[in-house]
Parts: sequence; C-alpha cells; structure tokens
Amino acid sequence: MTTVVSTGSYDYLTSALTTMPTPVTTSSTWPQVPRWLTLRQSLRMARDPVGNLNKVLAAYGDTVHLYLGGVKPSIVTRDPALVQHILQKNHRRYHKSDLTHGLLRYLGKGLLTNEGADWLRQRRLIQPGFHRQRLAGLTRLMRAAADEWVAELAALGAAQGPVEVEAHAAMTRVAFRIVARSVFGDSLSDEELMQLSDWLTAIQLFYVTTIRQPYLRPVQHLRGRYRQHDDLARRLRELVRAAIARHRTAQAAAPADAAPPDDLLQMLLDARYEDTGEPMTEHQLIDELNILLVAGHETSANALAWAFFLLARHPEVQDRLAEEINRELPNGQEVEFAGLPRLSYALQVVQEAMRLYPPAWIIDRVATEDDEFQGVAIPKGSVFSLYVYGVHHHAGLWPDAEAFRPERFAADAQPALPTYGYLPFGGGPRLCVGSHFALTELQLVLIQTLRRYRVLPTAETPPGMNPLVTLRPAGELRLRFEQR
Ligand code: HEM
Repeated sequence: MTTVVSTGSYDYLTSALTTMPTPVTTSSTWPQVPRWLTLRQSLRMARDPVGNLNKVLAAYGDTVHLYLGGVKPSIVTRDPALVQHILQKNHRRYHKSDLTHGLLRYLGKGLLTNEGADWLRQRRLIQPGFHRQRLAGLTRLMRAAADEWVAELAALGAAQGPVEVEAHAAMTRVAFRIVARSVFGDSLSDEELMQLSDWLTAIQLFYVTTIRQPYLRPVQHLRGRYRQHDDLARRLRELVRAAIARHRTAQAAAPADAAPPDDLLQMLLDARYEDTGEPMTEHQLIDELNILLVAGHETSANALAWAFFLLARHPEVQDRLAEEINRELPNGQEVEFAGLPRLSYALQVVQEAMRLYPPAWIIDRVATEDDEFQGVAIPKGSVFSLYVYGVHHHAGLWPDAEAFRPERFAADAQPALPTYGYLPFGGGPRLCVGSHFALTELQLVLIQTLRRYRVLPTAETPPGMNPLVTLRPAGELRLRFEQR
C-alpha cells in the first residue's frame, strides 16, 4: 500500500481556505511574520512549537516566512500542493537542511543523511531489503519482540488486575528490539542491544540540545560534551563492526545448504552495486546500519505510544479492533504477514493515529537552486519546514480534523484522501524506505497486545506533545493494561 494518496478533489480544500484570514501579503511572496513578533514569542514557541505554529498559520495563511526561535529564517507550510512541489514534483532542487545533515557527525552518511547521486546509488542497493518478501521473513522476529512485551505485562501481574505502564518507554524498548533484531538477527546479544540503544539515545538527546539551544554550543564545547559524544559515536561504530564480524564468521561456519538468515545485515552484505558489481565498503555499511537503527525506532515507538493512548481514550474503537482480531484470528491462531490485509481495521487505526500524531511532524528542506511555485519566487538557499502536523490537522483537508476516526482510511471512505494531505512517511523519491516495515510492526504490536489486554486511560490529564526531532509525548504517558 502507498501512504501518499494521489486521488481526491480539492473542492472542499479551496472552500475551507477561503474562510481563513486574508493573508498579509502581496501576490509575489508569502506573508512574513514580523521578526519582533517571533522574537517576542520565541520562548513560547520553544515551549509549544505545535500550538504556536498552528496559531501563526491560522492568522497568516498556510505558508509563512518566519524566524524560527526568532533567529533562523524559514518558510513554514501546511499547503499540500507546496509540500508536493518540494518533495516530489521539483525534488531535484531541494536537499535536506543542516538539521538532518548535522547527524552526519555522529551517525555517518546513510540513506537519511546522504544526498544526490550517492544517495540514489545507496537507495537502489538498500530498497530491495524492504520488499514484501523480505518483510514476510521479518514478521516472525517482529512478532517475537511484540510477544516479549506482552510477556512483560504478564510478569508485571496484569492477569491479577490492571497494571500501570509508562507506555512511551515500553514502546521504545519494543521498537528498538524489533529494528535491532531485524537488522542484526542473532549477531547482537541482548546486553549489546541495550548498550546500543542507550548510546544512540544519549547521542540523539545531545544532538537535539545543540539544535534547540544553539547558544549553549560554546559552553558544551568547553565542558567537553562534544568530545564525549564523538567518543560515544566511535564506540557505537566499534560495537556495530564487531556484530558484522560475528555475523560473517557465523555465516562462514554455517553448512553450505543452510538457508541464509532473513536479517537486513545479510541482505546488505549480499547486495552488489549495479555499476561495479562490488559490495558496500565496511565504513558505508556501518553508516547505513546506524541510520536504520535511528530512523527505525523512535518514529515507530512514538506511533505505537500515541496509538495506545488514543485507543485507551476511545473504547469503542478498541472494541471494534478486538472484534476484528477475534474474527480473523480465532482460537489463538497466529498472525502471519499474509493474513495482515484481512485485519484492515488494525491498519486504519495505525494510519489515523499517525495522522493525529505524525512521528515525523516536520520535514526540512533547502532550495539548492532558484525555483518558483505558483508565481512565487523561491531563491536558492530558502529553508523550508514542511509542517506535516499542520497538514494532517488542516480543517480544509480533513472533515472534523481533530476527531479520532480510523474509518477515514477505509478503502471506500469518502471524501477520498487529499493528495499530499497525508504524509507520515514523507513523499517523493525520499519516501521512508521503512514505511511497509513500520506499518507491519505497528499492526503486529497492536494485534498481539489487544488480543490479550485491554488498554485503559489513567486519571492523569492527557499528555502534551514534545516535538523534538520526532513527536513524543511530553513527560510520562501512563496507561493501564488489563487482561481480557
Ligand atoms: C512509524 C514509523 C516511521 C515513520 C513515521 C517514518 C517517517 C519517515 C519520514 C517522514 C521520512 C522522510 C524524511 C524526509 O524526507 O526528510 C523517513 C525516511 C527514512 N526512514 Fe522512516 N519512518 C518510520 C519508520 C522507519 C523504519 C522502521 C525504518 C527502517 C527500519 C526507517 C528508515 C528510514 C530511512 C532509512 C529513511 C531515509 C530514506 C531516504 O532518504 O532514502 N523508517 N521516515
């Protein structure tokens, strides 16, 4: 299935847009939010970027020039046509910004951080690893990781009564296990897996601080924090290098007629460039593995945490999903990759959760040459923030946009999904390479959990959002799980 849907009428979009405040602009550019205003609001923006961006766009229009944090000029848009222009129609004129490229220092040049011809060559090599057939092979690993989480619930005593769990931390563990085992198979011990997860989390947290509070960078240098994290990145590479070596040794010792392992590492070791027939260098391989681990766990963890949160608050949706599971998987029948399409409501729940809480809530791009969109000149160097959250909550695109209604994603739903109005996995050639992987794992974790447990809210107020690189719940997301 594709996530960027290319059908749909714009009638209801244009009618809704006409009800918005008249933009303060001339026809040849987008409105500019005055710098003094963004400076004055910069603290509020740092505290609640989503709430503040929503307010700004509601007042000024779907695309605005503003100074992020009062200093960084950026064009923020929730206009699906402009998003499509940048990600798909004219993608050659846009690269990622320093926000993404800054990760190069710690993780290396993998698919997410690479650009141009080099990126395309790597993408062609790696993409087959995520085809349906490979995913079918990975389903067993994913299910096992989901079952470990369900067993954790049992160990906590959920059979005796509801147990309270911090769902974001729990889902981070599940998602990391899934991606790390899919990548490394058995070549990584549980202890190494936890170590990898801790180092990657530490690196990401530090990186986010350097982005969010750039004025602290000199202090961080003085305190040796950059050196510390460079060192972590070096140790991370060594751990990955050792896992590759172990994998190679195990394969060399395996009987000739043994089936090769299903994991992604094996696929990457076997892959050959079309032009040279050569495999990837070890350096490149480590970069790609690092990137897969980072790109593939926090996003999925957030999607799962928000999905459980929404289910807890919508028992009617949860009941319908549980009914589907009982109907399609009677008598404890195992869920298989081939059977997932029959569990269509599970997929709709996942899709709607990612509409309301898109893990990749903002996508960055920079114009690498002069461009134009609907008569507006875009000079080279213009920085764009494609505001995915804003697109997904756009009242002109989504009837009753704030409501949790999974059936919007049913095959025969009306209105049809708006073009580039739904893009949890981005769009164009740089669409998430792991989108099918992610949809499979999210469905599996929901199914394996809900067939045994009911999820309930706690007395706490719903969590706020903490939009870092990905959209996480602010603080703890406590939910209760009770055996069915
Ligand atoms: C719910 C889960 C996920 C979400 C919401 C998500 C979202 C995204 C988005 C929006 C992009 C495009 C970024 C851009 O254009 O700047 C992307 C790229 C990418 N994602 Fe995902 N992702 C998810 C899961 C995964 C998984 C499980 C993997 C790997 C196992 C993965 C690997 C990647 C990679 C390697 C890229 C870069 C692709 C390229 O540029 O060629 N993602 N993801």
